[in-house]
Amino acid sequence: MSDASPFLMTQLRRDHRRIGRVLQLLDAQIDALDSAGVDGIVLRDIVEYLAGYPEAVHHRLEDELFDRLVNSGLKPSEWALVSRNMSEHSEIYVRTQKLAEDIDLILRDVVLPVERLREDLLAYSDLQHGHMNREEQQLFPMALRLLTDETWRELETQARDMSDPMFDGTVERFNDLFELVLAATPE
Ligand SMILES: [Fe+2]
Ligand SMILES: [Fe+2]
Repeated sequence: MSDASPFLMTQLRRDHRRIGRVLQLLDAQIDALDSAGVDGIVLRDIVEYLAGYPEAVHHRLEDELFDRLVNSGLKPSEWALVSRNMSEHSEIYVRTQKLAEDIDLILRDVVLPVERLREDLLAYSDLQHGHMNREEQQLFPMALRLLTDETWRELETQARDMSDPMFDGTVERFNDLFELVLAATPE
């Protein structure tokens, strides 16, 4: 692999910074549980965003990348790490759907036990943060070390459209959430 970071890696890291900014809003909602309470509309927008591009594009491309990695002669400990992150993509999908159902109840004025909601939101936030941190610190460096230029090129042909519906301003329904993101984490 040459020194310059492949385009796909730059984009995946960009996605992580963006997902991280959205997770900061989620963490602020968790903090608000003890004071003003959660804002159901903000939570709905956060979860709708996280259920979209990050799962449909970002995780899908990482799955392709990790697929190549598991066939690159990994040590058993490395293989276990990659395989754990791949199954976390499924876990994140399931938990995001479950969270969306809970938020639906909140928006219909069903009172959820606050401690259960806190535990669910904290577990979800921890899962997302831990998952991205492992990718940044261990899996991405492993991919840069082991994948060939040719493999990166093949992966990049599958990654032509990585435009994000909120950060690239393509989908209007995320405008309100984007304003909150910009106010909380100005670039
Ligand atoms: Fe991932
Ligand atoms: Fe990721």
